[in-house]
Amino acid sequence: MRVLGIETTCDETAAAVVDSPREGEVEILSNEVLSQIAEHAPYGGVVPEIAARAHVEVLDRIVARALEKAGTKLSEIDAVAAAAGPGLIGGVIVGLTTAKALALVAGKPFIAVNHLEAHALSARLTDKIQFPYLLLLASGGHTQLLAVRGVGDYLRLGTTMDDAIGEAFDKTAKMLGLPYPGGPQVEKEAERGDPERFALPRPLAGRAEPDFSLSGLKTAVRLEAERIAPLTPTDVADLCASFQAAVVDVVVDRTRAALRVFPGKPNALVVAGGVAANQSVRRALLRLANESGLRLAAPPLSLCTDNGAMIAWAGVERLRKGLKDDMGVAPRARWPL
Ligand code: KG4
Ligand code: ZN
Repeated sequence: MRVLGIETTCDETAAAVVDSPREGEVEILSNEVLSQIAEHAPYGGVVPEIAARAHVEVLDRIVARALEKAGTKLSEIDAVAAAAGPGLIGGVIVGLTTAKALALVAGKPFIAVNHLEAHALSARLTDKIQFPYLLLLASGGHTQLLAVRGVGDYLRLGTTMDDAIGEAFDKTAKMLGLPYPGGPQVEKEAERGDPERFALPRPLAGRAEPDFSLSGLKTAVRLEAERIAPLTPTDVADLCASFQAAVVDVVVDRTRAALRVFPGKPNALVVAGGVAANQSVRRALLRLANESGLRLAAPPLSLCTDNGAMIAWAGVERLRKGLKDDMGVAPRARWPL
C-alpha cells in the first residue's frame, strides 16, 4: 500500500510517499518539507495570507519531488491523502484541492486526514506502538492529552485552557526579542541560562484534571523581564531557562495526571508535535515513563514537526480500515479529534 500525503495546514509545505506492503511493515520512501520560516520571520509569526500564497507557489514542485525521490509515479500510488484541517484555512484549501485533483486524475481513492490524528498516529509509523497509548500532543496550535484507543478512536483527557505549549514558547521568545519560531531559540538560550534564577509559577500543578494553562506563566516572564529591563544576554538566557524549567514541570505534572485517569493501562507514553523536539521535555517525559513502567515513544525530530509522512501514514491506517472520503469533503479551520 503506497500513499502520497500532503500537508499544508500551517507554515510547512510538505509531501511524502509512505509504503506499507503489509501490516507491521512500513517504509518512508520520501519526505519533502519546505519551511516558510523566512517568509514569516519579519512578522514574528505566521501570516495566514502569506502562508496560503506560498503553499500555492511551491506545492506542485514539492509533490513532484516527493514522487521522484520515492522512485514512483502517480499511477503507482494507491491513494492520495491530505490534511483537511484543523489549520489556517487558506493553506488547507490549497493542499486539499491539490490532493483531490491528483486523486481524480489518477483514479485513486482520496483520504481526508485530520492533522491532529496524523500527529497522534505518527508513533506507529516509527515505533510500531500498539493501541491503546497515552499521547501528549504539543505543538504551536494544539496541546492535548489523548487516550489513543484505535484509528478514529480518541478520547480527550485534557487540553489547554488558553495558549498551546508551542505558542507559549513562541510568545515568550518574541517578548525577549528572539526570532521566530521561538521554541528552538528558547531551548538554545536555556542551555546557558540559570533555571533557578526566576521563581515562575507552575499553573494547575497538582490538579486532578489533566488540563493546561500557560498564559499566566507567559505573563510572569513578561513581568520579570519588565522588572529587570534593560535585558542583558545573561538575563535573556536565565529567563529562557527558568521558563523552560517551568514548562517541563508542568508537562510532567499534567501528563502524570492523565496517566491517573487513563481508562485501562496504556502500552506506551507517546509525545508528538513540534514541542516534542525539545530535549528537556523529552528527557523529563522519559523519566516519567520509566517511573511509570511505560515505554516512551517520541518520533524522530523530522517527524515531530509538521510533515507529509505522518499524513501519508494516517492515510495508510485509514485505508486499511476501509475509510475513504468523497470529493465533497470541506476544508476545516477547526476540527477537534
Ligand atoms: O507541530 P508543529 O511543527 O506545528 C504545529 O502544528 O503547530 O509545531 C510547531 C511548534 C512551534 O510553536 C515551535 O516553537 C515549537 O513547535 N517547537 C519547539 C521546539 N521546536 C519547535 N518548542 C520548544 N522547543 C523546541 N526545540
Ligand atoms: Zn502540527
